[in-house]
Amino acid sequence: MTDKNLARFYAIAQEIWSQLPPQARFRPVEDGKVLARHRGFLEGLTGELVQGFYETLFAHPPTRAIFREGERPLREKTLRDWYLRTLAGPFNGQYFAWQALVGLVHVRRGVTNAMMAGMWNWLTEEVERRAREALSREEAEALAGAWRRLAFTVAALISEEYLDAYLEALAEAFGREPKEFRRLAQGEAERLLRELSPR
Ligand code: HEM
Repeated sequence: MTDKNLARFYAIAQEIWSQLPPQARFRPVEDGKVLARHRGFLEGLTGELVQGFYETLFAHPPTRAIFREGERPLREKTLRDWYLRTLAGPFNGQYFAWQALVGLVHVRRGVTNAMMAGMWNWLTEEVERRAREALSREEAEALAGAWRRLAFTVAALISEEYLDAYLEALAEAFGREPKEFRRLAQGEAERLLRELSPR
C-alpha cells in the first residue's frame, strides 16, 4: 500500500475509534500488557485456532461458498499471520488502520459483517475456554476481558469500514459523494419506518 493510502486508513481507523466510548473499547496500554503477559500461552493456541476457524467456516455452506477452490491454505496463512502479529503488538495506528482495511477486503469478497461477527464470537469463546482450563481464575478473567475488548473493537473497525467502502463504491459508480448516499439512506429509512407504523 502507498503511504498516501496508508495515511487514509489511519484517518479512517481514528475516526471509527473515536466513536467508541473509552470505557467500551480496547485499552491499548492495560489490555496490551495483559495480552503481552500471556503471549506464550496464546501463541501455543495458533494451530488449533486456525484449524478450528476454517473447519467452522468450511462446514457451513454459506461461509464455505465465499472461498475459491484450493484457497484454504492461503487463507489459513493469512489468519495465522494476522493472529501472530496481533499477539506480537504493538497496538498502534498502523495495526488499527490494517484492521479497518479488512472491511474493504471483505467487501471485495462478499464476506458479510454477520459472518465476521459470528467468527469473532467463535474466537472469543475458544480463547476464553482455553484460558479457563489453563490459567488461574484471576488471570483467565483478565485475559478473557482484554481479548473480548480487542474483539469488539476490531469488529467495530471492520464493520464500519465495510459500510464506508460500500458507500464509496456506490458513490464512485454513480459519480456521487458517499455523504449523499448516507443522507438518502436516512431519509428513506424514515419513510420506510413511517410505512411500517402507519398512524
Ligand atoms: C474474526 C473474524 C475475521 C477476522 C479478524 C478476519 C481478518 C482478515 C484479515 C486480516 C484479512 C487479510 C487482509 C489483508 O489483505 O491484509 C482477511 C482477508 C479475508 N477474509 Fe477475513 N477475517 C475474519 C472473518 C472472515 C470470515 C467469516 C470470512 C469468510 C466467511 C473471511 C474471509 C476472508 C477472505 C476470503 C479474505 C481474503 C480476501 C482477499 O485477499 O481476496 N474472513 N480477513
